[in-house]
Amino acid sequence: MKIAVIQGPNLNMLGVREQHIYGPMSLDQIHEQMKASAAQNDVELEFFQSNLEGEIVDRIQECLGTVDGILINPAAFSHTSIAIKDALSAVNLPTVEVHISNIYKREEFRQKSITAGASTGVITGFGPFSYHLGLISLTQIISEVKA
Ligand code: DQA
Repeated sequence: MKIAVIQGPNLNMLGVREQHIYGPMSLDQIHEQMKASAAQNDVELEFFQSNLEGEIVDRIQECLGTVDGILINPAAFSHTSIAIKDALSAVNLPTVEVHISNIYKREEFRQKSITAGASTGVITGFGPFSYHLGLISLTQIISEVKA
């Protein structure tokens, strides 16, 4: 099973940016942990990070016919991007949206995710562990679809 992991803007700054919110782990460290758990379940991960909305749209479109599902943290674009939501709807793959922080506990403008409307489910607020939970959930959903 192949899963695309798509990381939105400023997530390349994890470990540096607002550590009191996002913690001390870098994106590479999070990806290393994900790789370890994916390997145990025979899951192959393809990592992608961009600060540009159009590049994320392109990456989502490329997922059609090449991967079984998408794990995405659209970061700030969650709250603004109809284009990313439309791309997710267009490819129509099993998708889990992940947030490190609990967006419902934060500023009002973060409490609505536009992109989540195109996801199978959302995991928010468990720190970097959100990615681990997201991966387990997505793996399960894809197995059900394939069965
Ligand atoms: C985030 C939450 C967003 O509101 C924010 O813009 C991010 C990260 C999270 O993972 O908690 O960049 O998606």
